[in-house]
Amino acid sequence: MSTQLLVGISELTTNDPAYGALLGRIRDAAVVIDGDRIAWVGHADHAPAADERVDLGGRAVLPGWVDAHTHLVFSGDRSEEFEHRMAGHSYRAGGIHTTVRATTQASDNELRQCVRARRRVARSEGTTWMEIKTGYGLDTAQETRLARLAAEVTPDVTFLGAHVVPPGLEAPEYVSSVTGEMLAAVRPYARWIDVFCETGAFDPAQSRRVLEAGRAAGLGLRVHGNQLGQSGGVALAVELDAASVDHCNHLSADDVAALAASETVATLLPACDLSTREPFPPARELIDAGATIALASNANPGTSNTTSMAFCVATAVLQMRLTIEEAVWAATAGGARALRRGAEIGAIRPGLRADLHVIDAPSVSHFAYRPGMRLTCAVWEAGMRVDLADDSAVSADFTSP
Ligand code: NIG
Repeated sequence: MSTQLLVGISELTTNDPAYGALLGRIRDAAVVIDGDRIAWVGHADHAPAADERVDLGGRAVLPGWVDAHTHLVFSGDRSEEFEHRMAGHSYRAGGIHTTVRATTQASDNELRQCVRARRRVARSEGTTWMEIKTGYGLDTAQETRLARLAAEVTPDVTFLGAHVVPPGLEAPEYVSSVTGEMLAAVRPYARWIDVFCETGAFDPAQSRRVLEAGRAAGLGLRVHGNQLGQSGGVALAVELDAASVDHCNHLSADDVAALAASETVATLLPACDLSTREPFPPARELIDAGATIALASNANPGTSNTTSMAFCVATAVLQMRLTIEEAVWAATAGGARALRRGAEIGAIRPGLRADLHVIDAPSVSHFAYRPGMRLTCAVWEAGMRVDLADDSAVSADFTSP
């Protein structure tokens, strides 16, 4: 296996507390990659030799983004619904049915091309790991198909059959199907189970049934909670030790305290909050109370049609009052924590997967200081340098097959 020595790094964000809280930044740094792993990290003066030397010309390097919440397997467009919302109407869970219809009509190959194109665009912007949910199928054959297609591009597939109740069924009957034959069919492709615990989707008792069945089948737990109101999703997620509860827009003081005292990560989705005009989650309160937060894109056609983690980081800093350090950590190490993969990804430390994001800037502060600018100039995924020209060329395919 050949080794690569990366030098010319003005600022290396390691997320390793050994180099200082919170980001463990090293100035004038170097990194050695051995195969798909980080082999060495430190000051350039002390760097060992390697087979290949790459000079990054004084740029900043950080871990690849870990996007811990996406709904990447979908077809169709909901820009009309979006336009309606921007004219003053509120978001309702029912828009999901529009995407279910379009997704169900797309062939495997059409969906496969869409997912791969979206994945490649995200990678060209520095995302080296993604979780992907099902949830636009809502019956056994379709949910299984979506999970199978998602599993072609990530090991973090989440079964979200309990996204919304399909037309013609009642919630109790549908929950029985989700927790019965649907779960059994999707199980081989999934690592996680999720539920949309919200008015218009599933109440806490139904959500509990879904999560407990998933856990009994060996899946880890995630929850969509407290997006549109105080749904009880956060309390349930904490009680069941879910890895993550996502959205968290409407939190009581008890919710904040419960999250702070738990291992459950609060995954915040700022692009979705802008697109639904929901109030931002109380991110400062969560952090100040000691909760762990992650930032994710929530890429989906209804509430957040973007895979840009840089946009999420900039919004979290400029609108949600996170510091640069907190936002960058939340979008890298925080995402890894939300996927319970902190020992594998989300940091630049010997032994971890070599997922590196090189930006055309001297420091990560530029993500918020120059919002909306494309900063990514190189990406290494599992030790391999990604061909960015090839990846960004597929962006025209982002929306539909
Ligand atoms: O995370 N909240 C539930 N699911 C998605 C929205 C899906 C949709 O509207 O299509 C979300 O925002």
